[in-house]
Amino acid sequence: SAAGAKTPLALAFDAVRGAMTDAVVVPAGYTAQVLIPWGTPLNSKAPSWSAERHITPEIQANSVGMHHDGMHNFPLDEATASRHMLLALNNEYIDQKALWAPQGGPTGMDEGGKRPADEVRTEINAHGVTVVELKKDGDGHWHPVADSSYNRRYTSATDMVLSGPIAGSDYVKTQYSPNGTNTRGTNNNCANGYTPWGTYLTCEENWPGYFIKDAGREMDDNRIGISEGRGRYGWETAAGDDSEQNDEFARFNATPRGDSATQDYRNEPRTFGYIVEIDPYTGEKAVKRTALGRFRHEGCWPGKLVEGEPVVFYSGHDSRNEYIYKFVSEAVWDPADANRPGANYDRLAIGAKYMDKGTLYAARFNADGSGEWLPLTPDATTQDGRTLAQALNLAADDLAGVIIHTCDAADLMGATPMDRPEWGAVDPASGDVYMTLTNNSDRTVEGTAPTFTNDGAAIEDMGVGYGTAPTNAANPRADNGAGQVIRWREGDTATRFDWQVFVFGAAVGDADNFSGLTEQNQFASPDGLFYDDREDEQGILWIQTDNGYPGVADYTNNQVLAVVPQSVDYAEGDAAVIDGSDQEQLKRFAVGPNDCEVTGVAFTPDKTAMFINIQHPGNWPSVDDATVETDGTVRPRASTVVIQREDGGKIGV
Ligand code: FEO
Ligand code: CA
Ligand code: CA
Ligand code: CA
Repeated sequence: SAAGAKTPLALAFDAVRGAMTDAVVVPAGYTAQVLIPWGTPLNSKAPSWSAERHITPEIQANSVGMHHDGMHNFPLDEATASRHMLLALNNEYIDQKALWAPQGGPTGMDEGGKRPADEVRTEINAHGVTVVELKKDGDGHWHPVADSSYNRRYTSATDMVLSGPIAGSDYVKTQYSPNGTNTRGTNNNCANGYTPWGTYLTCEENWPGYFIKDAGREMDDNRIGISEGRGRYGWETAAGDDSEQNDEFARFNATPRGDSATQDYRNEPRTFGYIVEIDPYTGEKAVKRTALGRFRHEGCWPGKLVEGEPVVFYSGHDSRNEYIYKFVSEAVWDPADANRPGANYDRLAIGAKYMDKGTLYAARFNADGSGEWLPLTPDATTQDGRTLAQALNLAADDLAGVIIHTCDAADLMGATPMDRPEWGAVDPASGDVYMTLTNNSDRTVEGTAPTFTNDGAAIEDMGVGYGTAPTNAANPRADNGAGQVIRWREGDTATRFDWQVFVFGAAVGDADNFSGLTEQNQFASPDGLFYDDREDEQGILWIQTDNGYPGVADYTNNQVLAVVPQSVDYAEGDAAVIDGSDQEQLKRFAVGPNDCEVTGVAFTPDKTAMFINIQHPGNWPSVDDATVETDGTVRPRASTVVIQREDGGKIGV
């Protein structure tokens, strides 16, 4: 049985049926309240929400951002933590149609159009992170605390510090920061993480689409997919032509223009792709922790914490055939560094202690159920016997260069290309790590794996990664639309682990419905994942979906499922851990409104309130009760939803 396993609990709600409505569906006996939707004022500089209002840059900078994704709650006092907290949440990207609804859409998105500066500023301010103080009233209703000094925004324009191996290196010197110590903004913050010392981690995922580089492209620009021609929302067009270049927007155009890196923004994309640490209690300047690698970070999850041992963080690169990573700190955990809720002290100095020095690894999943963590250090030996530094054409001790080229380094070491790693979750009792692999349309039986040779031409090829990857034991289905959840347990050494596929997504009638899913739990494209640690019994693993897989998408909108994992015996080598015999322990708990994805999870410590985010809904919400179907048409707003039991009891049991 699992090391340190607790008493298993039984799910005590009736699974909800699939639904396709403009409402949130929860089990009988539960309520769902709309909380802090996009545009909710954080202070008196922003007006209350109006569906007719034009959103100025100043209004957006002082209101909740758009497209809520990962989040985490932080107590102000342990005694009141289940009714009073700070919530930090990601605002991943924007719905321009909703943002510019009063004027009928964005300006200048047509071919070659130039975007107006103020529209771009509003869009920049709608991205990033929101920190907001929340309280529960006596009647169980939650509300944001207006004008709280904790309420603040971090946007795609906020000054941030670069820390760890790349800080101060030539790779990140720009016109804005000639010393390579700072950058502006964080972008496409998808999933999240948190630290034992009370900070929030926000993770930069699909940021490469916001930058363009039309000339002077380097290996990492290609490998990570920096745009050409036009950025996702055309922010760079607001800079004007070459004679007027406004630096506020020109930074999104990384095409070299000056004589050196400090005269333009060729290196600006190299200041993105990181885990960003925020102290929600103090609002100190956010720090990009570059030692954890540079890629499209979905999220970042701390491993089981043990006094006197290194602190571990897991992370996934959400792109087809990309990798899973682990960071192991050089410093060992000292319980004196644990969070002191509400107190004002330098948590980011503690972050530097555990996150700026350590070793980054990429995962290899072997067919026999074993796994290996491959170190991404300049002196590591690649598959063909060179050092990583040699293979990447770097100086022998250039750790910053390895970090900049994290994905190529993982290729060279022989990491296993995965079916789009999204969220992770750690069972704090056993230390088992779960991770969603959402889907992969570029997976075939044969694959077209990249080949590396020793000459310069091969270095150019390396900017590509895999075209399609061959099926393998951890990613066994070609053209995988439904996805799976894997789990692993660390072994006796720092580089060994054992792994299993925990559950396969599928529609009921599928030939490859390997986990025997039924109507009460069929799902596809798992994305959000959260393990709700409970004091005296085993926690529940929550799975959220971001699905377009026919069969499931025709049956239900995106959903939240609860599962109680059975204890693990990795030695048995049982491929499908959820195998059809234990369906009562995997149930659909909630369904979101039309067009949304459900993402982000937080729980009060007493487990009586569960927070989820409804991202990119099509026509919702219309009233405070999230379960009420929209009547007519509304300007849609991403929102947090708080789910509670009518009798005030614990969620799920
Ligand atoms: Fe923003 Fe990988 O989801
Ligand atoms: Ca999303
Ligand atoms: Ca996601
Ligand atoms: Ca997704």
